[in-house]
Order: sequence, then structure tokens, then C-alpha cells
Amino acid sequence: MTRTVYVNGDYLPETGAKISIFDRGFLMADAVYEVTSVLGGKLIDFAGHVKRLERSLGELDIKKPACFDDLLTVHRELVARNDLVDGMIYLQITRGSDGDRDFTFPDSETTEPTVVLFTQSKPGLADSTLSKSGARIILVEDIRWGRRDIKTVQLLYPSMAKMMARKAGCDDAWLTEEGVVTEGTSNNAYIVKGGRIITRQLSHDILHGITRAAVLRFAREAQMEVEERSFTIEEAKAADEAFFTSASAFVMPVVEIDGTALGDGTPGPVAKRLREIYLEESLKSAI
Ligand code: PDD
Repeated sequence: MTRTVYVNGDYLPETGAKISIFDRGFLMADAVYEVTSVLGGKLIDFAGHVKRLERSLGELDIKKPACFDDLLTVHRELVARNDLVDGMIYLQITRGSDGDRDFTFPDSETTEPTVVLFTQSKPGLADSTLSKSGARIILVEDIRWGRRDIKTVQLLYPSMAKMMARKAGCDDAWLTEEGVVTEGTSNNAYIVKGGRIITRQLSHDILHGITRAAVLRFAREAQMEVEERSFTIEEAKAADEAFFTSASAFVMPVVEIDGTALGDGTPGPVAKRLREIYLEESLKSAI
């Protein structure tokens, strides 16, 4: 099926959508993005994604596009036009193009940001086989830049890390820096020890996950103990269980870290319970 996508105010067939070869998103990775999941045709955590998008734009001094206040309508329109039931909506905003390549930013008075949105259909997204078996992950050095709290499209290293995981016969990679885990290639990382949920504190070192915020809130509401601090590679391998969170994976149990099986090698009870709570609660507030 040919998707209908959104480019700078127009809904177009994906084959007819075009942006400039001088667009700074293309030439400089000068762009930010968001991924919002869709379950049963409804948007999950939409307000959180828009809030983080606004922050990412602000941190990079990219001006808000004219359609910013209409983003909910655009998302809903894409869901409707593509009959999207389960899947994701990808949104990218770049600094735009002033018709040439230059390291300095173009004048924001005369250069409009580029806005692109498209849907990705993933039937049965909330019921993935990986969520039942649990993910096997490897650890790789985190060599990304220092502002990982800004959701930029500089995703080459996370892609390479994911390929390293695939080459090793695993599902994903967690990134480490000076012996501690920062986050996953495209998710936030957690371990569970003695019933306590441990995940790295917010800073410039990790993305402030929208799913993370919701999951930690639900965990605290369910009287689970949460510790927001860095954890070491050794702690991760000795954990009772582990999991990661993201808009597309929700709460994903991790059963193996760098060849070490956690617990009995099957998804742990805390991860399974949090996945249930997250899906139930976020479906209730989906819009
Ligand atoms: N990735 N950390 C990184 C590096 C991420 O890329 C993501 C999301 C997360 C989780 O954030 P959230 O819960 O807001 O999705 C953490 C998206 C899903 C992606 O790139 O496809």
C-alpha cells in the first residue's frame, strides 16, 4: 500500500513526497524527531512527545514550524488516511534549507523548518514475540556526542551498535561509559535487584524517555521501589532481571546481557507486570 505522508503542510503519496537535497537534516543531521506509538488507532503519550519535541527544538535553536500547534490534527489525519491500527508515527523537523551547503546556520527569519511525518504499520505491536521471549543484549562502548537528551537524528552510531548486536546473534545493545550503562541504542535501560528498579538518573547523558517517565510513575504508584542512579556492568550482569523502555517497545524484558543469563533466563516478574500496567494505563489515556 502506498502511504500518505505529510510534508510541509501537504498530505502526499509517499512516492510523490520531496525535500531539497540542500536540506540541513540531510546534509548535517541538523534535525530532531519523535516517534509516537499508535495502538487501536489511538496515540500513546502524545502530549509528552510534543513537549519533548518543543524542548529539542529550543535546545538547538530551531524555530517552531508554523504547523506546531496543529500536530495532533496532523497525527490523527495520518492515522485516518493510512487506516493505521497499530504502529508508529515518525515525525522529523529539520532546520530547513537555504539552497546551499554551509556550516553556519541559515537565517531563521528567511528559512523555514522542514516538517515530515509518516506512519509505520506494525500489526500486533503490543503483542510482539520478543516481549514473550525477552531480549538478549550485548554491551558496547557509548561513543555518542554529549547531548543525548536532545532527540536528534544523529543515529549512525546507535544503528552500528544495533548491527553489532545482530552480528552477535542478539536483539539489541546497551551502551556503556566508564563501566556504567548509559542507555540502549533506542531505549532506556533498567535492572531489578532485590525488588528495586534501578535506572540511570536524567542528565545530558541519556534521552529523557517519555515511556520512562510513565513507567516510573506507574511503578511508584504500585508501591515498587525506584532508584534513579547509574548502574555498573557488573551490577547489570548480576541483576535479578532487566528491561528496557521506549515508545515502540513499551516495556521489554531483557533475559541476557553479554552472554550472561539473568535469573532463570526468562522475562522477570517486575518487567512483565510493568509491561501490563503500562499498556493498560496508556491505552486508557490514549487519544
Ligand atoms: N527511540 N533512548 C534513546 C537513545 C532513544 O532513541 C529512545 C527512543 C529512548 C526512549 O524514549 P521514548 O520512551 O520517549 O520512546 C531512549 C525511538 C523509539 C526511536 O528512535 O525509534
